[in-house]
Amino acid sequence: MNDTFLRACRGEAVDYTPVWIMRQAGRYLPEYQEVRRRVDFLTLCKTPELAAEVTLQPVDILGVDAAILFSDILIPVEAMGMKLRFLENKGPVLSRPVRKQRDLDHLVVMDPKKDVPFVLETIRILRRKLRRKIPLIGFSGAPFTLATYMIEGGSSKNFLNTKTVMFSAPGIFHSLMERITETTINYLAAQIKAGAHAIQIFDSWAGALAPNDYRLFSLPYVKRTISALKPLGVPVIYFVNNCGGLLEMAGTSGADVIGIDWRVDIGKAITRLGRDVSIQGNLDPCALFSDRDTLKSKVADILKKGTRARGHIFNLGHGILPQTSPEMAKTLVNLVHDQSRR
Ligand code: CP3
Repeated sequence: MNDTFLRACRGEAVDYTPVWIMRQAGRYLPEYQEVRRRVDFLTLCKTPELAAEVTLQPVDILGVDAAILFSDILIPVEAMGMKLRFLENKGPVLSRPVRKQRDLDHLVVMDPKKDVPFVLETIRILRRKLRRKIPLIGFSGAPFTLATYMIEGGSSKNFLNTKTVMFSAPGIFHSLMERITETTINYLAAQIKAGAHAIQIFDSWAGALAPNDYRLFSLPYVKRTISALKPLGVPVIYFVNNCGGLLEMAGTSGADVIGIDWRVDIGKAITRLGRDVSIQGNLDPCALFSDRDTLKSKVADILKKGTRARGHIFNLGHGILPQTSPEMAKTLVNLVHDQSRR
């Protein structure tokens, strides 16, 4: 197996910088759209043969160094007892958002084998199909990021409801976080046992928090999740979007790899994080809308700075945009491989 990605996670020597792309399976690929014409998004997530098929599309098309399970961070939220729908052009909608104690009472801790067997089956299929190729990444949302969806009832700009509960009813917020954290630990442990080689925790909205609130309301639950997974022995990547003000704290999470967005200079981020962790990132997803030479110089800059880290995994600073040309994504993967070969 090409284990370059896993070696970089652990800070071991590599022949070149490994690369994968957040949201690498998705709407920018015509092959994905073709599958989506036949089934809706949630059905796709819950049909192991199809979920495995779209997981593998970017592996074959782009030549990335890791595959990521096709699913969604909100699948466990549905299993906890909230009704989940995905509306065209609006994104996820969760009914009965959690604002009061009584909204919490009917939410349960998920049992992965019983509640999401389709995810574990997808992983088992992928393990067989990826044999001797590349590693498979499992994932979950970070507890705080999941809490924002559960409290807002969907996506949000300023997280007003989340922060209102956090600041005015911290007891309710923390007991929601307890339940999400238990669910997340069960979920990731089950993914690892089913065969995931590494895990990524997406804290997509942590950057909306003031540093002190991040320290109180997000970080402790991430730490608890990661320390519960440690004995299972696979690398954990902790991606923090908009991480600029939080980086030193995120570095204490216990993760093997910190994933960063593009708003920070990767060289400075490496200095701030030190040499106990590897780094993942951090090209602006919009850089894929420039020409090849511009892209090449942006990639070269990140690669050069990345050599100072314990280990570097190249990625975008957030998910690839649906408007991206698959050709440019392929060009990116080739540029990373060619320019980083030792
Ligand atoms: O290739 C991969 O990365 C694996 C699949 C994956 C999806 N979602 C598929 C998806 C992963 C890892 C996610 C994570 C996810 N989901 C996050 C964290 C990453 C991030 O972007 O910050 C978040 C916040 C979500 C929640 C979510 N799912 C939203 C807000 C939306 C709607 C907006 C959008 O991007 O479409 C989704 C839907 C979604 N998740 C799609 C896909 C491929 C699009 C569904 C479709 O086919 O229409």
